Amino acid sequence: MTATANARFHKIAEFVLGRREDTLAHRPELAPSLEYRWKHTLRVAQYGKQLAEAEGASVELVVAACLLHDVARFDVADHGIEHGRVGARIARPLLAELGFAPADVDNICFSIAVHVDDKADFEHPVTLESKVVNDADNIDRFSAYRILLHFRDTLDDYETLVARASQRIEKLKRYRQEAQVMGTETGNRLFNRQLDLQIEVFERLVADSRITRMPEI
Ligand SMILES: [Fe+2]
Ligand SMILES: [Fe+2]
Repeated sequence: MTATANARFHKIAEFVLGRREDTLAHRPELAPSLEYRWKHTLRVAQYGKQLAEAEGASVELVVAACLLHDVARFDVADHGIEHGRVGARIARPLLAELGFAPADVDNICFSIAVHVDDKADFEHPVTLESKVVNDADNIDRFSAYRILLHFRDTLDDYETLVARASQRIEKLKRYRQEAQVMGTETGNRLFNRQLDLQIEVFERLVADSRITRMPEI
């Protein structure tokens, strides 16, 4: 990776964190969720780098897109399902200012725009980079940390927790049976690794619930 690329990544990070600061100035109570969002962003960028290298995508474009993919989620406004397309509009002038070539700006903006629901609001062919960004985001959405978050509200209600774990296992196994959920081979391999960990943890929880009773001999 060149010095220019790393300098650009730092400028992008500064930009995203600057927007987070602007939001926190009005809404300090959002600090924990925006901290999670930034940590998620960093992990998506790491997965993006790994996937881009393995798949032969442009590492620089993928990492830039990953760092910006959720930029709209650092706003006070909740853009919901639009946050990809809004994010692409926020990112475009920054990318031009950082000296990315026009075709690269389009590719990065397309990758940001489509990461939520596969839809952009401008014409562009699907690119390997956009598939990699999408995969990187989905891999982190099934992280070990997410297992903990899944039960955050239910820790004191064991019956509900076990019922939730059982439902979750069914959903995860359906994903696991599909041959190619992700956009790339490497994405699928890393995603399956996440699924296997989650399935194992949830199955262990359910198994523990079955021995939560008096033994008989
Ligand atoms: Fe997102
Ligand atoms: Fe994301």
